[in-house]
Amino acid sequence: MIKVGIIGVGTVGTSVAEILRDNADVISARAGVDIVVKSGVVKNLKKDRGLDIIITDNVDDILNDKEIDIVVELMGGVEEPFEVVKRALKAGKAVVTANKALLAYHRYELQTIAKDIAFEYEASVAGGIPIITALRDGLSANHIESIMGIMNGTCNYMMTEMTNNGVSYDAILKEAQDLGYAESDPSFDVGGFDAAHKLLILASIAYGIDAKPEDILIEGIDKVRSEDIAFAKEFGYAIKLLGIAKKDENEVELRVHACLIKQDEMIAKIDGVMNAISVVGDKVGETLYYGPGAGGDATASAVVANIIDIARSGKSTPMLGFNRPMEGSKLTLKSTDDINSKYYLRINVSDRAGVLARVTKLFEENQISVETMLQRPSTQTSANLLISTHIALEKDVQKLIKELEAQDFVNATPVMIRIV
Ligand code: HSE
Repeated sequence: MIKVGIIGVGTVGTSVAEILRDNADVISARAGVDIVVKSGVVKNLKKDRGLDIIITDNVDDILNDKEIDIVVELMGGVEEPFEVVKRALKAGKAVVTANKALLAYHRYELQTIAKDIAFEYEASVAGGIPIITALRDGLSANHIESIMGIMNGTCNYMMTEMTNNGVSYDAILKEAQDLGYAESDPSFDVGGFDAAHKLLILASIAYGIDAKPEDILIEGIDKVRSEDIAFAKEFGYAIKLLGIAKKDENEVELRVHACLIKQDEMIAKIDGVMNAISVVGDKVGETLYYGPGAGGDATASAVVANIIDIARSGKSTPMLGFNRPMEGSKLTLKSTDDINSKYYLRINVSDRAGVLARVTKLFEENQISVETMLQRPSTQTSANLLISTHIALEKDVQKLIKELEAQDFVNATPVMIRIV
């Protein structure tokens, strides 16, 4: 019998224990051994979780328990779980975590510490979608050309509701929190950090790149408003928060930001809290993974799959999927300045003679060519200019935005969304 200890018996932790109990027949058949949860650590001992397990508020009760074979870490945070997980590994216990922030900062140290002890984290990226297994095992024969996807269910839910039902940004954020999709601090979702943590994990498996969140371009959906959605609809786009990893010779682009995507692209059709990730390999071509990226049972499904795998095999795959230095030894992160993209800009200007000419002059001076343009009245004396560009260089667009902001006829910092 394999015994499990869960550190953090919240929504996901409770689902893990319930799945191991309710699906014990298929689980023991697949694992070849019975798996039971022995104990769980919680902060609030008074709350009844309806589980027949030992409940404690002391992590030592699990870390020092010689009967526990697998520790499931679902505490959240970075440094505290890092210490707990290190102690578990040093005690020879296998670890399963859903903690993407922990991995975004400490995955390479954890790989070194874990060595031959199983350390699994399928639930950390895109909840119920087995994307780690797909990338690390199923696609291991390939050079990975790109990874692009919707990796945050909260943002996708918000964008979908704002587009389809005209719901305001604040109202829909509150609803996503009430539905349990959002992180405890929702700025992790809407600011793009949650998706960035996931992208960094995938980029390590694909490229061996050891980057931290501070090293890459991270923007969220917090500046997207109904005017931008109206523009997107008018020109046949959807707005999505995407995580993008793209290899170009010896450079890798890693970025998370809101994107305008043509409505006929598959990824543009992914609505609600669902996640979808496209991975292009040099031999396999494009593959696409779709499923629930948040929610207790979906996330717990991935945690339990890791537990079954460990119970079955002990240890089969290196944590990040490579045993020798990967391409990461020769690959470098592409500078954000060198990104090439089409862009959309919303510029709120005073509505008076000559303003449009001065705006387009600034575009010309920065070698940025306009593709489409709309002007929509904003107040009696101001208007929104909604402009999309042909392909331009990120550093030129950033310079243009600064120059526009400095003009007396520009009323607010222009909002920019990249077009994929
Ligand atoms: N807050 C995350 C999301 C949960 O909305 O996708 C899963 O990581």
